[in-house]
Amino acid sequence: MSKRIKIKDIFSAPVNQAYTIMGWVRTFRNNQFISVNDGSCLANIQVVINSDQIGEDVIKRITSGAGISIQGTLIESQGKGQTVEIVADRVEILGDCDAETYPIQLKNRPSLEYLREIAHLRFRTNAFSAIFRVRHALAFAIHKFFNDRGFFYIHSPIITASDAEGAGEMFQVTTLDLNNPPRNEDGSINYKEDFFEKHTNLTVSGQLEAELAALALSEVYTFGPTFRAENSNTTRHLAEFWMIEPEVAFNDLDDNMDLAEDMLKYLIQYALDHCAEDLAFLEQRLLDEEKQKPQADRSEMTLIEKLKFCLEHPFERLTYTEAIDILKNSTPNKKGKFQYPIKAWGADLQSEHERYLVEKHFKKPVILTNYPKEIKAFYMRMDEDGKTVRAMDVLFPGIGEIIGGSQREERLDKLMQRMEEMHIPKDEMSWFLDTRKYGSVPHAGFGLGFERLVLFVTGMTNIRDVIPFPRFPGSAEF
Ligand code: 4AD
Ligand code: MG
Repeated sequence: MSKRIKIKDIFSAPVNQAYTIMGWVRTFRNNQFISVNDGSCLANIQVVINSDQIGEDVIKRITSGAGISIQGTLIESQGKGQTVEIVADRVEILGDCDAETYPIQLKNRPSLEYLREIAHLRFRTNAFSAIFRVRHALAFAIHKFFNDRGFFYIHSPIITASDAEGAGEMFQVTTLDLNNPPRNEDGSINYKEDFFEKHTNLTVSGQLEAELAALALSEVYTFGPTFRAENSNTTRHLAEFWMIEPEVAFNDLDDNMDLAEDMLKYLIQYALDHCAEDLAFLEQRLLDEEKQKPQADRSEMTLIEKLKFCLEHPFERLTYTEAIDILKNSTPNKKGKFQYPIKAWGADLQSEHERYLVEKHFKKPVILTNYPKEIKAFYMRMDEDGKTVRAMDVLFPGIGEIIGGSQREERLDKLMQRMEEMHIPKDEMSWFLDTRKYGSVPHAGFGLGFERLVLFVTGMTNIRDVIPFPRFPGSAEF
């Protein structure tokens, strides 16, 4: 038997030669035409069988979902819809699939909600295989982007004792017996007896460790899983998500914005260049889905137009203070249309405000800077006015915040003051403060939520559909 060739490669392989393909049956028509997919690309290869030659017992077992191996000759196709097809000499069923009970019935397009419940099988649909190929391409492109620019990939720890964001949204890690934990005299739990001899949790961000590395290697990034125990049941939040966090010594806020904008544009361009077939499919999927909606709710641009639009226009950069003025005077604010009306400077921005700025006001990606210190993390560099910090959030259409970052507070006294004000325990963070004691330099970085990027590029609307096995409140299946 000839060596297996991937379906992706067979479309450009020489015709009139023998090949072996393996994959899963998508459809089987007229006891003659099998569509086979192996996930290497969106397209199926059509296999033509001669029922006299392939036994009745095998033909019965060619059902949607069955694992199959086919040996045959590649020929130029006689029929419409494909350039080449395989005329089978041998058909072997590798794994039967009972058509009656198979949960994926392609005839009536399964809903995304239903497929989420059978996430272990949803890879077998065109939509999800396309999404996960695009996700892969973007992950690869991230490493390429940084590697080409001389950044070093740092693996930040997943188990940590610190709360990098100071927001207290952590999953605890312990080996203590929860039914009978060791206690101190005052009744509190004695973590000295826990595995790490202290209270630990899953990381919410690799930033603090990336800062340690940046203050020696200059340009670094992390790309790892992060965990947040926030009870947000939204289409943009996960309890376990992947974050890309570059950290660069000697960069200020402007450099940081330039890096974020360059990176996002590079990644979108990479997807357009390397995932054309999958993006065209996802664009059509979105068009079909939007047909159900009233005209006014449909997107003005197709998926690919939207991606190109982001590349062609510089992101709008403005301060939080300027944004608040726009929002305060906006029609939805005056008409009471915002769920959280903007009353005064200092208000935290909700996704409805971010989306108004991006989708209605500027109609392009926006970078907001210099937020009030009260609504941002302790490590951001204080501005001269003592009221705002050198923060930046990148806001995207349909998504809201896709990146959060800042120039960091490199001055020891100022940093200690902020930590005190925000009740961040200084004694447990002495390792972090050491960077400010010994050769501190200006530096800046940011975090890109990987799933929010994949959401944007694939045109999907629920973040649970762009990570293989989503974790969210009440759900940790598979
Ligand atoms: O704005 P955040 O909380 O920033 C940080 O964690 C910083 N330490 C990053 C840094 O400066 N190195 O999170 C960064 C990004 C957000 O903009 C968002 O895209 C994503 O991470 N994100 C989430 N994505 C999915 N589910 C969640 N629950 C998320 N929380 C944040
Ligand atoms: Mg943020």
